[in-house]
Amino acid sequence: MKILITGAAGMLGRDLIDAFKGRFELAGVGLGDGSRLGIPYEEIDLTDAPRVEAFWDRTKPDLIFHLAAMTNVDLCETEKDAALRANTRAVEIVAGATKRQHVPLVFFSTDFVFDGKKTAEYAEDEPRAPLSYYGETKRLAEDSIRQCGVSYVIFRICWLYGLHGRSFPRAILDIAAKQKILNVVDDQIGRPTYTRDLCAAFCKLLDQDPQIFFKKAGNIFHLGNSGTASWADFAAEILRLAGYTDHKVQRIGWRELDPPRAARRPEHAVLSLEKARRELGIQTRPWQEALGDFMREYSRSCP
Ligand SMILES: NC(=O)c1ccc[n+]([C@@H]2O[C@H](COP(=O)([O-])OP(=O)(O)OC[C@H]3O[C@@H](n4cnc5c(N)ncnc54)[C@H](OP(=O)(O)O)[C@@H]3O)[C@@H](O)[C@H]2O)c1
Repeated sequence: MKILITGAAGMLGRDLIDAFKGRFELAGVGLGDGSRLGIPYEEIDLTDAPRVEAFWDRTKPDLIFHLAAMTNVDLCETEKDAALRANTRAVEIVAGATKRQHVPLVFFSTDFVFDGKKTAEYAEDEPRAPLSYYGETKRLAEDSIRQCGVSYVIFRICWLYGLHGRSFPRAILDIAAKQKILNVVDDQIGRPTYTRDLCAAFCKLLDQDPQIFFKKAGNIFHLGNSGTASWADFAAEILRLAGYTDHKVQRIGWRELDPPRAARRPEHAVLSLEKARRELGIQTRPWQEALGDFMREYSRSCP
């Protein structure tokens, strides 16, 4: 089976390549530098429809993982045209090209499609009401995929961190190297999620049934590590695991952030993992356990 990964040089893309290498034939596309990915890779702006279609025709993939996106949520507020192009227009083009190949599209959306005003967990079919432009572009992308007639599975994921690129643990460790008191938001709750745990779940699904995404076409699933945390809880656990015993997390409200963030975040966007467990058999481990593995790996790769 040949899997084409868009946004292959990004945080999730790089771990997905590591997880899939040796199991599947791989190809990648994206804007980032893919020269060291170790798979056939072409630099393509996915808003360029003729190039996308030509690449899809030439590559003849059996399955697409569409990860490419503009993921800096604050930048999406100020660069709205770019955000709409990368997060919605590119998705329409990728979905159209994928439909022409008669293969399934796996798309990645976000907890930011919800307003986070509910105190209970969000099921997949609950009304979406994004607070940010990033969330809005992803909501529009979900709709385009559903309307275009491609075989799709959408995974909404959240609070992702991994070894490659920018991430919350990396930011906290950078700040902790310079100061002992860290102001961190305590009134936004989510599920911290390790990229490698998602990749392991996709490997398992495809190992069990290479046709799984055809069989589950038309579905949205929520995915993440289990358990919940505020950003302050997440930061405190990072510091504890890193052995920073003298450091203190000062818990603040998101309204106290100085300077304030351009994008409004949901306060309680906790995605229900029940449907993925019931229908796909995906049982993810608690976020604290996953973070422990990340920290060990991180200290090995960035001593
Ligand atoms: N990170 C999270 O917390 C999170 C949470 C929920 C959902 N997601 C979703 O999960 C997916 C993977 O996230 P990630 O964190 O791995 O993202 P990432 O590290 O930002 O990687 C995204 C990749 O897409 C590329 N890209 C952007 N616009 C493109 C375009 N027009 N054409 C081709 N490539 C383009 C980027 O290239 P450049 O770097 O050169 O721009 C980058 O290599 C995304 O769809 C994201 O929205 C992420």
